[in-house]
Amino acid sequence: MLSVRGLTKSFGGFVAVSDVSFEVSEGELLGLIGPNGSGKSTTFNLIAGTLKPTAGSIRFEGEEIGGLAAHQVCHMGLARTFQIPRPFRKLGIRENVTLAAYYGRHGRVGRDEAEALAVEALETVGLPSDAATTTEGLGAAGLKKLELARALSTQPRLLLADESLGGLDVAEMDQAAEMLERIRTEKGITIVWVEHIMGVLMRVVDRVIVLDHGEKIFEGLPADAARDRRVAEVYLGTQH
Ligand SMILES: Nc1ncnc2c1ncn2[C@@H]1O[C@H](COP(=O)(O)OP(=O)(O)O)[C@@H](O)[C@H]1O
Ligand SMILES: [Mg+2]
Repeated sequence: MLSVRGLTKSFGGFVAVSDVSFEVSEGELLGLIGPNGSGKSTTFNLIAGTLKPTAGSIRFEGEEIGGLAAHQVCHMGLARTFQIPRPFRKLGIRENVTLAAYYGRHGRVGRDEAEALAVEALETVGLPSDAATTTEGLGAAGLKKLELARALSTQPRLLLADESLGGLDVAEMDQAAEMLERIRTEKGITIVWVEHIMGVLMRVVDRVIVLDHGEKIFEGLPADAARDRRVAEVYLGTQH
């Protein structure tokens, strides 16, 4: 479904993503992990059109999307969430998601259809879907759910979830993992899940890719990642 080849991004002389290649198969739940600053969000930004690659190729369902604008990529059926949620604070929860559905879908989506998509997405993530609830009372977990609902309302076939469970308690982390698993199973949406904490992610993903300093240092099954020497060095060095 997604094929990334030799993906590279430099900021001046600094290489944030260095010659990264990987594939994502339809129906997969793939984990993309690595310490802070290892290039995970930059990889998402390159795929989703927030940044243009310095080099490399990104093919989505056979079409080259590297360098396309974010709205074009979204219209093709590839949505992403942002690590730092920034909802429209003056709009209610449902309006935020309706807006995403309205502009995120390809072709004309009427107001009623956009609203119906928003209600469905809000029900999927477990947020209130009435017109009155504001973003005011949302904590870290609620904001991430809203971010997810905005992406889901565009009806993607591939979802890039920059989850960053930082700021969530253990129960909320489990809930977030279960939600992604459920979205994959029930909605049939292929998911790449970015996270810097290994724990809960490793229990639900089919396969994991590990980045360190912009380079792919591991790709394989979660159980093998846990036994890999380089992965252990990267993680034991930063987490303990
Ligand atoms: N727009 C940018 N300009 C300059 N440096 C950036 C930019 N975006 C990211 N970086 C740098 O690239 C590296 C990787 O960042 P990022 O992809 O956000 O890491 P991660 O998501 O894995 O924590 C970091 O050193 C970060 O400071
Ligand atoms: Mg990040």
